[in-house]
Amino acid sequence: MKALFQSYQSLAEASIAQAKALPFAVYHDKSVYEEETKQVFRSEWVFACAEQQLSKPGDYFAFDMAGELIAIIRGKDGTLRALSNVCRHRGTPLLDDGFGNIERNIVCPYHAWTYDDQGKLKGVPFPGDVVVDKEEHCLPGFQLESWMGLLFVNLSDKPLSLSERLRGIKEYLAFFQPERFSNGYHGETEHWQANWKLAVENGIESYHLFKVHKDTLETVTPSKQSFYVAGSSEWAITGGRMVETQSKLMKWLSGSHPEAYNHYLLIFLPPSFIGIMTYESFDWIQVLPDGPERCVIRSGGIMEYSGSYKDKALEQFNADFMAEDKAICERVQRGMHAQTGHGGKLVSMEKVVVDFRQFLASRLFNSVPDDFFQSEQAHIFLTE
Ligand code: FES
Ligand SMILES: [Fe+2]
Repeated sequence: MKALFQSYQSLAEASIAQAKALPFAVYHDKSVYEEETKQVFRSEWVFACAEQQLSKPGDYFAFDMAGELIAIIRGKDGTLRALSNVCRHRGTPLLDDGFGNIERNIVCPYHAWTYDDQGKLKGVPFPGDVVVDKEEHCLPGFQLESWMGLLFVNLSDKPLSLSERLRGIKEYLAFFQPERFSNGYHGETEHWQANWKLAVENGIESYHLFKVHKDTLETVTPSKQSFYVAGSSEWAITGGRMVETQSKLMKWLSGSHPEAYNHYLLIFLPPSFIGIMTYESFDWIQVLPDGPERCVIRSGGIMEYSGSYKDKALEQFNADFMAEDKAICERVQRGMHAQTGHGGKLVSMEKVVVDFRQFLASRLFNSVPDDFFQSEQAHIFLTE
């Protein structure tokens, strides 16, 4: 087992010139999965949802983060909190996974212990002669930080600040004026039979678009027109030129950055957030592990106008390319059990995959990642 961790480390540390595919076993091995759960999902800032998706008091988003059940709730006081979503009586999950509104209180589906929107225990039915100390039975809270409206949870007690880790990204996004995007939407939740890292690697590289998405994404955002923008192990941005310039009007409106409005940016905040920003919207997927060979993919986004996402053709387009991604990731997962042979060289378009590996290596093995890199094309997006 030690040998697997050693080869995981040495391959994950490599720079793009030397980078090769990781040992196949890291995509199904249980001890690797446990180590990633501990060092990444229980120690890092992990994306949950956006503030704009929880606009009303009582709105919540409940999800399973590598076994820890979490609910982010907007209280009646307007404050967002991340609480444990597990009943303090005998451990029943309280709110169903996904988005909803708690209306009055959180009521456990087992024996109806009742909590308020801040996790305080309010009521215990039929306690008999026994006294249940309400103060002692509140739902524990987790660290929650908002960055550009995106909400991240951290299970460690005193994490390093997220905004510090993400310093420098905003200057590449500024010309899209993302502060306009005040309406959130909830997309689909999918279960893929693939290790979470396969889904992430697939989501961040544009190398596969021309093959896997020949009739979908490639017609809008071709592989050949994609490029690296800037990044490191802490965050990375790639981008590309859109062939289909639906945004001709936007181009005309765009003032000082006409060129940038024909482009998209793909923003990767490891471990779990992959977002595409254009002038029209900021759409994302969230990748969460669900055992060594399964993951959960949840889509969502924010935009300027409410309801504009309900375009049937666009919904179909999204469903089509997501199905293509699911099929290819599940296919690769089957290859990961092969004992003979091993993965090959990564190409230039996969630099962002190298950033992800270096993120993993830094968290799992304390490796020192490569320096921040900015490409020539970054100037398209920068104001000054
Ligand atoms: S487990 Fe929740 S009330 Fe019993
Ligand atoms: Fe894809």
